[in-house]
Amino acid sequence: ATGSGDAAAAGPKAESDLVVGFAQVGAESGWRTANTKDIQDSFKEAGIQLKFSDAQQKQENQIKAIRSYIQQKVDVIAFSPVVETGWDAVLNEAKDAGIPVVLTDRAVDSSDDSLYVTFLGSDFVLEGQKAGEWVLEEYKDQTEPVKIIQLEGTTGAAPAIDRAEGFAEAIKSDPKFEVVASQTGDFTRAGGKQVTEALLKANPGVNLIYAHNDDMGLGAIEAIEAAGLVPGKDIKIVTVDAVKDGMQALADGKINFIVECSPLLGKQLIEVVKQINNGETPEKRIVTEETTFTQEQAIEALPTRQY
Ligand code: AHR
Repeated sequence: ATGSGDAAAAGPKAESDLVVGFAQVGAESGWRTANTKDIQDSFKEAGIQLKFSDAQQKQENQIKAIRSYIQQKVDVIAFSPVVETGWDAVLNEAKDAGIPVVLTDRAVDSSDDSLYVTFLGSDFVLEGQKAGEWVLEEYKDQTEPVKIIQLEGTTGAAPAIDRAEGFAEAIKSDPKFEVVASQTGDFTRAGGKQVTEALLKANPGVNLIYAHNDDMGLGAIEAIEAAGLVPGKDIKIVTVDAVKDGMQALADGKINFIVECSPLLGKQLIEVVKQINNGETPEKRIVTEETTFTQEQAIEALPTRQY
């Protein structure tokens, strides 16, 4: 029997009696901080109890947290898998215990999609494509090679894999685009800075940095300035997320373009939890709607940006 089946058989619980366990990735970026706040605020507002844990970007910690939620017999488990692979064992334990699992933000790479009820989050391949399409347009008149450094997210994480794939797909039509180096900065500002410092030394004449998130782009800005170059001019930067610090750097002309990835998943998660409690079947894939920002659009959006 599945948890949702049991819930349906016994009838829905009062929402104030529901308990949800959420295993968060960590606090690696501004995006993650905004995501955590939105989830915590949404549960408070809905009056549903939330048990929250921070895995500090370690899969073993997330697995431990999920096991503890199973032991505590929570009604629903939600989590953002730090990496894509290696979840089948613990998800089968949840299934055997009859506890429905919701994936938020990041996907798992499992052939058995009965291990989770729904996956709620962005289309990361599309985000990478949007970044690549901007690059195509930005350099359309340049005939010389365009040398690119890619700052990858956490190795093995869905957004790192998919954003690399979407970007590569978009720029492959023109051989003048050369990704001269691609390395992980683990989605952190410190990682982005450190990797950029090293890669700029090893790769003279870089034109563009594509960072898989704003934080690594912000770290790259520091490294570019420390190298005596002007970010946004000598080396252009395109990132993903559109958190406040990223948007400020875009407004200031230090970042050139941002593809939005929305961290505001709390309300949709609450909806899914309510549907499960009512014995309904949520859509298997719920895709977040997102936009892109130029400098002018960032200047306009900043005053009312929530995060
Ligand atoms: O999974 C979403 C990604 O994780 C965000 O783009 C990045 O900032 C975060 O760390």
